Amino acid sequence: MGGGSPEPVVSRISEEDHYKVPIEMFQLGEKLEADVFFYHQRQYVIFKSRGQSWASEDLKKLSDSNIESLFIRFKSKKDHHEFLHRKLRFIISNPSVPTEKKARVLFETSEPILTTVYSSPNSSELIASAGNFVKACIQYLGDRGSLPELFQLSGESLTEHTHALHVSTYSVALGKKAGIRDQQQLYTLGLGALLHDIGKSKIDPTILNKAGELNDEEWLLMRQHPEIGEQILFHRDIVPVLSRKIVLEHHERVNGKGYPKGIKSIHQFSKIVGIADCFNSLTSQKPYAKAMPPYEALKYMIQFMKYEFDSKLLNMFIDMLSE
Ligand SMILES: [Fe+2]
Ligand SMILES: [Fe+2]
Repeated sequence: MGGGSPEPVVSRISEEDHYKVPIEMFQLGEKLEADVFFYHQRQYVIFKSRGQSWASEDLKKLSDSNIESLFIRFKSKKDHHEFLHRKLRFIISNPSVPTEKKARVLFETSEPILTTVYSSPNSSELIASAGNFVKACIQYLGDRGSLPELFQLSGESLTEHTHALHVSTYSVALGKKAGIRDQQQLYTLGLGALLHDIGKSKIDPTILNKAGELNDEEWLLMRQHPEIGEQILFHRDIVPVLSRKIVLEHHERVNGKGYPKGIKSIHQFSKIVGIADCFNSLTSQKPYAKAMPPYEALKYMIQFMKYEFDSKLLNMFIDMLSE
C-alpha cells in the first residue's frame, strides 16, 4: 500500500507527532501539503506523499483496507488544530460542496478538536480553537446545513464531542428561531453551549461512566460541574462573560428546581442550552439508560418536564425539530 511506492515507508518519528485527520477533509484533485499516514501494527505507514494529488482510487484503497483514519505529522496540537480549521473553513464556505459532505466534515472534525479541548481545558489556545469550531457550526447552519444530517451521523452514542457538537448546533439553531440574528450573540451562545460540560473534565471518570444510579455523595460531586466549568473559563478573555454564565446556568430550571443555585431567573441563552442539553441526553445512549427516539424525548419533555423549561422556547424547539 502507498501512493506508488513499492515498499511501505514507515515513519520513524515519535507517536506524539502524528495527529488524526479525517479522510473527508481531502478533496479530489487536491495536492497534498504534507505526507499522509495510516496506522498499522503499531506503526505509522505512509499512505501518500506530500505533493501527490488526492484521487478517487485513494478512497477505494482506504475502504478496501478498512482504514478509517489518516494521520499527518504536526509540531504541536496548535498546528494540528490550525490545519483542521483551515480545511474546515474552506469546505464549509464552499458552495459547490454538498450539505451531506459538510455535515460529515463538521462531525469528523469535532472529534479531534473537541476531545483535546475537553482533555486540556486550561489551554487558551485550545479554547480559541473551540471558538473557531463554533464559527464553523454557525456558518454550516447559515448555509442551509441541517440538523438531521448531523444527528444521523453521530447515532445514539453520548460521547463528549458528539454531545458538545449537538448541544452547540441545536442551541444556535434554536437561538436563530427565537430571533437572534447578531453573529456575535450567536457565537456567544454557541460557545457557551459547546463548553457547557467542560467542568466534567475535573470529575472522576468512574462517576461520569457509572452504569447504575449515582449515590448521594456522587451526585453532590456531579452537580458541581457547572461551577467548576465556570471557574475553568474565568480568566479566559476569549470566552465572553455570557458564555461563562451559560456554563454556570445550564442545569438551572425556570421552576427553581435546577442546580447549582436553584434560581428561577435564568438568562435566555442558558434556557436555550438547557433544552438542547436535555434533549440530546435523552436521545443518547448512556451507561444507565437507553436512548429515546427524538419523538419520544420531546413527548417526555412536554409531559414530565414542561415546568422546568420556558414554554415558549420549548414549543419553538419542537417546531424546529418537526420542520
Ligand atoms: Fe451538564
Ligand atoms: Fe450536557
